[in-house]
Amino acid sequence: MNSHPRRTSTQVAVVGAGPAGLMLSHLLSLSGIDSIVIDLRERADIEATIRAGILEQGTVDLMTGTGLGDRLLAEGQRHEGIAIRSRGESRRVDFPALTGRAVHLYPQHEVLKDLIAARLAAGGDVLFGVSDVSVHDVTTDTPAVRFTEADGTRVELTCAVIAGCDGSQGVTRTAIPAHARTDYFHAYPHGWFGILTEAPPSSEELVYAHSDRGFALISSRTPTVQRMYFQCDPAEDAAAWSDERVWAELRARVNGNGFELEEGPILQRGVIPMRSYVLDPMRHGRLFLAGDAAHTVPPTGAKGLNLAVADIAVLCQALERFFHQGSADLLESYGRTASDRVWRAQHFSWWMTSMLHTDTDADAFGRRRQLGEIDQVTESVAGSTFLAEAYTGWPIAHTNPDSVVSEAITVSANRAP
Ligand code: PHB
Repeated sequence: MNSHPRRTSTQVAVVGAGPAGLMLSHLLSLSGIDSIVIDLRERADIEATIRAGILEQGTVDLMTGTGLGDRLLAEGQRHEGIAIRSRGESRRVDFPALTGRAVHLYPQHEVLKDLIAARLAAGGDVLFGVSDVSVHDVTTDTPAVRFTEADGTRVELTCAVIAGCDGSQGVTRTAIPAHARTDYFHAYPHGWFGILTEAPPSSEELVYAHSDRGFALISSRTPTVQRMYFQCDPAEDAAAWSDERVWAELRARVNGNGFELEEGPILQRGVIPMRSYVLDPMRHGRLFLAGDAAHTVPPTGAKGLNLAVADIAVLCQALERFFHQGSADLLESYGRTASDRVWRAQHFSWWMTSMLHTDTDADAFGRRRQLGEIDQVTESVAGSTFLAEAYTGWPIAHTNPDSVVSEAITVSANRAP
């Protein structure tokens, strides 16, 4: 390895080319602020990893309002409700009627393709396949990120601010020392067995099913590829299940009273762990964490990507104030503003999980109480409005009227009733 690193600098060093890092770099470039994004993964891996698929209204508005809407609006599908199924019957929660808002089904890897294409088209620096990433001097005004480029060149990147967007396994969260942080962690006794199947859609909208055998979710990816999940033991070995056993389990949890799953070959399968995590504060000196680097939600509420985007909308407004107006006030309040939404999302994801999953330890009272809760939520306007507000997403915090995100989120706020 060369002992003299290549020295370079930027205004914002972004560690991680996931939704948070790429969205931040995209928004900053629209505001004339320089950034360099680095990631351990190759571009092809980032663009192929299957994750969740629901975009909140505010995420859609921020994307369409900043030039990222073409494929989203052409290929994504607007969903105006979900079905909650229990005891073999579906009840619909109508989002626009309850909140004036809706969601889009548009897979995360498609969002990432659009973001990467936009960054590269604008001449942005996105370095894939780097290694040995470390962050330094974050409590000074000149922090740095060191890494090795794909061709082996050692780099020292100095900057004014580091954005830690490298997910739950990344290095940036470990840069906050133990005495300066609180870690909130909750493990659930469930996992999700997820499949991709080549089949037509079984339903026009997502189906969240409660059953005696456990939760199941029927989602979609394209007109010919569907995404489905069912609650399982987190230690389950997905490879040990035959296709027929998977379908029998899904059928037993979802089919009935005229509803029948469309089945097909299983293209991909895996078990997803369910956990909640929040790191407080989301900042240490000039290091600001966003997305999964700062928090994890279980998949039930489809909040992971949306929380990352909401963090970035807040962080971008703060960085614009800092670089354009010379004030650190919004950087100071970033963690408080962002974590208000994080904890709402933690509650919502935990609540959806507890309402819809069967708990092997639950007694007969617990199981019957759960059905009462589902009835309350689906048959009362107050109950279903609570679900619809959270699912379609709370308005994104609007802190800097001079920000590039302002126009997009103003449109979003105006749509709320
Ligand atoms: C998905 O389509 O992968 C999906 C949708 C909704 C959820 C979770 C995952 O709540």
